[in-house]
Amino acid sequence: MLTTQLLVFAHILALAAFFGAQFAMLYMLLPAAERAADEAGRRAILIQGFRFYNPFTLAMLGVLVITGAMRLTDIKAAMAADYFARIGYLLAVKLGLVFGLVFIQTYVTFGLAFRIGRQEEVAAHGDGLPFTVEKVNSMLARIRAMAWVTIVLSAAIVWESLKLVHLIRC
Ligand code: HEM
Repeated sequence: MLTTQLLVFAHILALAAFFGAQFAMLYMLLPAAERAADEAGRRAILIQGFRFYNPFTLAMLGVLVITGAMRLTDIKAAMAADYFARIGYLLAVKLGLVFGLVFIQTYVTFGLAFRIGRQEEVAAHGDGLPFTVEKVNSMLARIRAMAWVTIVLSAAIVWESLKLVHLIRC
């Protein structure tokens, strides 16, 4: 019982932290960077902010996946032969959406945000040129758009999860 509570507790807290981090990035980090005095200052703020955002959001997704999978193992054992008939369809929908969420968040962090800082380091070592202002702006526009996709996907997953929990409890 306590293990179950702790798993659901960690699952929900990780969801809250992950969801909140999207809004913090959109409405705190990006506007703060826009108000920087010059381009170097803007990049420094972005790099500093993404240095927290990237590992944090991926770690929270990791906690969600691990705690969810652990809960699922117990539920499967308890439901035995009824498992697929009772929750198979909803679970497939949820896990499909979760796959999309992990895919998009990995793209935002490793495919976009991380590369802004990495390219500055490459340029500082004389191994290449820093990204142009246009390139950084276009990457930020994609990060912004993808963060909204992440928010909508998360909301859809919560919706499906609540239906799933209802089936589990019945
Ligand atoms: C592979 C990934 C995941 C698995 C296997 C999984 C599995 C589960 C399971 C089995 C439950 C039922 C817990 C219970 O009733 O004891 C649950 C609940 C829930 N999950 Fe997930 N989950 C995953 C990812 C996510 C993600 C990414 C989100 C949100 C974006 C999420 C949001 C929720 C919510 C809101 C609940 C309802 C908790 C409650 O009301 O008790 N899950 N999940």
